Amino acid sequence: MKIIGINCSPRKGQTTQKSLEACLEAAREESSQIRTDIIELAGLDIRGCLACGYCRKQLQCKQEDDFNSLISAINDKELAGIVIGTPVYLGSMAAQCKAFLDRSVMFRRNGFLFRNKVGGVLAVGGVRNGGQELTIQAVQAAMLCHDMICVSDGMNTAHFGAALWSGGPGGIDSDEIGLETARNLGRRLAQVAVKVGT
Ligand SMILES: Cc1cc2nc3c(=O)[nH]c(=O)nc-3n(C[C@H](O)[C@H](O)[C@H](O)COP(=O)(O)O)c2cc1C
Repeated sequence: MKIIGINCSPRKGQTTQKSLEACLEAAREESSQIRTDIIELAGLDIRGCLACGYCRKQLQCKQEDDFNSLISAINDKELAGIVIGTPVYLGSMAAQCKAFLDRSVMFRRNGFLFRNKVGGVLAVGGVRNGGQELTIQAVQAAMLCHDMICVSDGMNTAHFGAALWSGGPGGIDSDEIGLETARNLGRRLAQVAVKVGT
């Protein structure tokens, strides 16, 4: 079974990516049944939903940007979970994240394809208390609309998800507390995915 990370940062390979890698590495360590992949939205052209209704009848969007190219990777028979990673922008998710989530409505409209998939959220802010928890909860609202099973970062850090701080001394690599929440989120995702199945 597979857990997919979506990196919503407009910057490839930076702090959100590193945090997702730590999260998914822990998921793989938790269970040998788990495989992982990360899709980076950086460089992709993913616009906002136009509410045209085209995706009510097919798992396809009328807009000719890069979203359609992601559908087959996400709509994988082995999909057991999704972890969304986003930088915190002005106290909430990055616009790329919101555009991705709004466009994901097609998976809901075509049979609730994310129902019972495990969902986790990881937010990276430049300041320690920059809105990570608010951001996590805003993304979780979308996951709940999909009938996903939202998990927190589990015992012993257990709060809302993974909350990281990139602007401290030493940057993201030195945010031991934040990285621990990322690893705990990965473990929790794997535990629940294995319990629920695909
Ligand atoms: C437009 C913009 C707004 C931001 N707003 C916040 C904020 O409200 N709170 C915060 O903690 N960090 C904020 N940041 C900092 C980023 O969240 C932080 O640098 C993050 O690590 C970037 O992720 P990345 O390295 O994956 O791109 C902001 C950055 C930008 C560019």
